[in-house]
Amino acid sequence: MYTKTMTRLFLAAVILAACSGNSLTQIQPGEIWPDTEGRHINAHGGGILKQGKDWWWFGEHKADSTTKALVGVTCYRSRDLVNWKYEGVAFSVSDDPDSPITKGCVIERPKVIRNPKTGKYAMWFHLEHKGYGYKMAHYGVAVSDNIRGPYSLVSWGRVNPGHWPANLSDEERAAIDAIDLDAPVASGSPEWEEQSRIGRFLKRDIEEGQMARDQTVYVDDDGKAYHIYCSEENMTLHIAELSDDYLSHTGRYVRMAPGDHNEAPALFKKDGTYWMITSGCTGWNPNKARMYSAPSILGPWTRHENPCVGPNADLTFLGQSTFIIPVPGSKANEFIFMADIWKPKHPIDSRYIWLPISWKDGLPVIQWQDSWTPEL
Ligand code: GAL
Repeated sequence: MYTKTMTRLFLAAVILAACSGNSLTQIQPGEIWPDTEGRHINAHGGGILKQGKDWWWFGEHKADSTTKALVGVTCYRSRDLVNWKYEGVAFSVSDDPDSPITKGCVIERPKVIRNPKTGKYAMWFHLEHKGYGYKMAHYGVAVSDNIRGPYSLVSWGRVNPGHWPANLSDEERAAIDAIDLDAPVASGSPEWEEQSRIGRFLKRDIEEGQMARDQTVYVDDDGKAYHIYCSEENMTLHIAELSDDYLSHTGRYVRMAPGDHNEAPALFKKDGTYWMITSGCTGWNPNKARMYSAPSILGPWTRHENPCVGPNADLTFLGQSTFIIPVPGSKANEFIFMADIWKPKHPIDSRYIWLPISWKDGLPVIQWQDSWTPEL
């Protein structure tokens, strides 16, 4: 059933597609982005995987008036990163009310990687069970023999129960031991902030496993893959090593930027340096992007200034990071920054910001452009 907003969106997209002869030449950040059938692309919080000559875009299907998952993860295919053909639902929600992925759950920030040993595709995502808001803070992982799916659920839950981070010094561990979990601290108070940084929630969740909300996955040059997720009540990011088949965690992980309150991690690597762009934590509302770099994916990570430049640069151009697309060999856009402009009242109308990353004084810069054409 089409509501007014959907009809308006569809018409706008059709007009745009008709004007462009159904073949777009430019990316227009923040505008309606019609697929090859003229419908605004519905793949939010997404990620891109290149296979052969094809680029595949996986993202959250968003409905008209709820941010909950009513459909699942959609996928689109392109040869030029501008014109995208809808390829269907790669990972579907379930009609079974007892399933963890039952219709009405939350499935966010899906990312797909291919395992070279098994040849299978692994889709990692943030999963919240229906009826629990954002309380569960679970990861989910699904697998498929084919890139376009269907993906089937492998496992879900909290991350690495029983394991302590690999990068805790003896002093840090002693400070955590000294935290009395039975002594309440007021949420948001300076003491709460300090204890979050030290590891109050890490300690609280050791047995059950660590919280995992906003997330991405990254495959390094040596073939090792990592799950990067927002943990410890959204106060601290974790970077966790994945098993050789990319379908589970190994138990080895590090804390990153403890207490910095980061969400929406997106990573890339250039000349041996790892770069991470994140957001602050203001829900669907935009905030100022953050940036970090490290000589190794497991750290140590150094914080830099906001890389965005242009109108609304201090609000990430009204968006929130989700992924960075590597385009090896391209001089103009070797890395493309992807972000979402969320519209929580009309989620289907959420927009995309894709911009090339440039460099100034050795640091990444994301310069706003109204329109641009990727060079492949
Ligand atoms: C954002 C997060 C989104 C979604 C939203 C819910 O901060 O990046 O993926 O979880 O919060 O409020």
